[in-house]
Amino acid sequence: MKKILFLGVVCFAIASFCALPVLNAADAPADGLKMEATKKPVTFNHSTHGDYECKDCHHQWDGSSAIKKCSDAGCHDNFDRKAKGPDSYYQAMHNRRVKDVQSCISCHGDVAGKDREMKRELTGCRKSACHP
Ligand code: HEC
Ligand code: HEC
Repeated sequence: MKKILFLGVVCFAIASFCALPVLNAADAPADGLKMEATKKPVTFNHSTHGDYECKDCHHQWDGSSAIKKCSDAGCHDNFDRKAKGPDSYYQAMHNRRVKDVQSCISCHGDVAGKDREMKRELTGCRKSACHP
């Protein structure tokens, strides 16, 4: 009898441990997020980016604390359109030659590949999905 109880406790412990990451994982906010730090605001939807890991974009996230905005202090908080460094908000979204983390445009370019219609839609400056 004791053995069964012990096994039960062990099973419960393992199950809880496995469930932890699920319980702790942050939820992505509802669609329609307005990214308004620059002149041409963009609407971002998490639901259309569900195939990716949170950390693919929220690359400084430690996996448990609150997720920050791209434009938060100490992140991409330089809103000068011509700024070039990693703090540049514009570059974070538009840099096509990134190494470790993809920008919106570098990933969209990869996704579109040779499909010209998709390229226009996902990498265009106007009348596109990003800048309608
Ligand atoms: C394709 C890129 C991408 C992926 C993948 C992604 N996010 Fe986001 N997330 C964004 C962008 C862009 C914003 C808007 C940030 C801003 O306004 O500067 C955002 C905003 C957020 C915010 C709101 C932050 C704030 O203070 O307003 C939370 C919370 C969040 N994401 C959680 C998640 C979680 C959890 C996941 C994984 C399940 C996830 N995100 C996956 C790009 C992404
Ligand atoms: C790692 C890859 C990746 C990154 C990074 C990424 N996207 Fe996307 N995005 C996609 C894919 C895939 C689609 C869907 C393409 C399709 O099937 O039509 C998409 C579609 C979109 C669309 C059109 C669908 C909709 O929700 O209106 C918008 C707008 C968009 N992305 C904005 C952004 C913005 C803004 C960023 C950066 C903050 C970003 N994306 C970063 C992969 C990415």
